[in-house]
Amino acid sequence: GGAAPGRPRQLPFTPIDPPARTLDAMRVPVGYRWDAILRWGDPILPGAPAFDPANQTPEAQAAQFGYNNDYLDIIETSRAGTSALLVCNHEYTNENIMFPVGTPAETLIRTVWAAHGMSVVELTRRKRGDVWTYVPGARLNRRITLDTLFTVDGPAAGSPLLMTKADPTGRSVRGTMNNCAGGTTPWGTVLSGEENFNQYFKATGGASTTPEGRYGLGAGGDGRNWRSVDPRWDATTADYKNEPNRFGWIVEVDPTDPTSTPVKHTAMGRFKHEGANVIVNSDGHVVAYMGDDERFDYVYRFVSRDTMRPGNSPKARAHNLQLLSNGDLSVARFTGDGLADGVSDGTGEWIPLTRGGVSVVPGFTTEQVLIYTRLAADAVKPTKMDRPEDVEPSLHSGRIYVACTNNTSRTALQVDEPNPRPANKDGHVVEMIPTDGNHTVDTFSWNLILICGSPGAGTYFGGYTGPVSPISCPDNVAFDSEGNLWISTDGQPSSIGLNDGLFKVPVEGPERGRVQQFLAVPAGAETCGPVIHDLEGSVFVAVQHPGEDGSYAAPQSRFPDYVPGGSTPAAGQFAGPRPSVVQVTHS
Ligand code: FEO
Ligand code: CA
Ligand code: CA
Ligand code: CA
Repeated sequence: GGAAPGRPRQLPFTPIDPPARTLDAMRVPVGYRWDAILRWGDPILPGAPAFDPANQTPEAQAAQFGYNNDYLDIIETSRAGTSALLVCNHEYTNENIMFPVGTPAETLIRTVWAAHGMSVVELTRRKRGDVWTYVPGARLNRRITLDTLFTVDGPAAGSPLLMTKADPTGRSVRGTMNNCAGGTTPWGTVLSGEENFNQYFKATGGASTTPEGRYGLGAGGDGRNWRSVDPRWDATTADYKNEPNRFGWIVEVDPTDPTSTPVKHTAMGRFKHEGANVIVNSDGHVVAYMGDDERFDYVYRFVSRDTMRPGNSPKARAHNLQLLSNGDLSVARFTGDGLADGVSDGTGEWIPLTRGGVSVVPGFTTEQVLIYTRLAADAVKPTKMDRPEDVEPSLHSGRIYVACTNNTSRTALQVDEPNPRPANKDGHVVEMIPTDGNHTVDTFSWNLILICGSPGAGTYFGGYTGPVSPISCPDNVAFDSEGNLWISTDGQPSSIGLNDGLFKVPVEGPERGRVQQFLAVPAGAETCGPVIHDLEGSVFVAVQHPGEDGSYAAPQSRFPDYVPGGSTPAAGQFAGPRPSVVQVTHS
């Protein structure tokens, strides 16, 4: 303690010792503490019941915090820093650890529909720097689930390829799902990526040159059997053959208006969207960077047709809420300059898929470019990357960081300078530098700032030669107020035998590339979020799928409440794991 309220406290820390993959504990640096501020099942909406894991219902879950929190932001809403909005995605569900054996199938399926989507929750605290408390039943609290209505906008809205029996207009979709990473816009909305939507549909499938096959849709793809409860999940029928086309978008939500209708933006293309992060170019155009998280898939850029209006007047806000509805999509090609210089680097170009909002891909209409974006991109030969996850511009430097999480399928023959390792189990991070700092020109330079792994042969840490923390499978990225890069990981338990974690990496100066581990998450969990409020000494992470390989009766994690085995949990508690949002502060 010691710092006065409102005084900057920063985040000095000594890197933690990385825990082995079996440790079921949060580990934070000496001098810090962690608190779970929101857990799966916590009541959010007015009248929501207390969490009762043995007796879950769809109605209760739809009013409670959802499962598997991934994207996270904490948006302050008062000048004193005593109120905020927490906005979070709920990517997917781990039925094996959520429900007691014997839960009726329809109850289970409808409950997990309600556990997907997003949450908006008001937070409060006495003074800046304190741990936040969530406010049950607060005015702006909101759950978005697979039943929430979305508007489809942009050039492909109303396309016959988006029409179904339930929606003959092709302009209105019920729900969002598999929401992975995201980004908060300068106008205060939140963007969220619909990622592995294919795993919920029974489909016909086909070769990788067909619309269904290229998106991983196929006959065996619906192990959750959702179609047994709602026919829209059966895309082999004439009524719902287009339902999969209504997922795989970037969605935009206004967290300040719980009555607003969230939007699916067709102008930003359809693929397995990890997320989208926006920067305002010097000319006012808004540029979004996006990854398609699949082995050998691509990095994309969206440039808005219109320019951002400053300020928060109703008129400016209404204008800015349309910025992502029209613009141009392009896809990245990375060219290496050879490895004789000892580093993976080179130049690159953004290959247009649309210009003036219209397709420039031979053989593809504009609607086809936007709905079958992967096939359109294949036609212009971008660089096949090692699973591009979060792609985020630094508002500090204007450089863009791409987390390529891993790709164990890349063969020695498929290695190139931007993806330099075969059987890449540890991943790497690409740094992209727009020409003249201009995000709307079609050229850039690039280098691999990190080639991840346990330090040693084949790894690279931005040229830093001192000790670094081992790091593998970079997934989400964020920046602190000084422009340092923070990376959270997903996959270290299987790649390097360590629990996943959160790492700080300076990107400038003599410590460029010095990876320092700040925290580790419990057994089975992936580290998501992250949000770095370094000026007030706070770090937030979303702890996703703790103990995912256990069962309801035999948990492999007891995070975050660590109810002792064999004891009866108190009301609102659970002996098993609960995905939760964690705040780390000075102790
Ligand atoms: Fe949901 Fe690409 O991680
Ligand atoms: Ca080189
Ligand atoms: Ca991710
Ligand atoms: Ca991941």
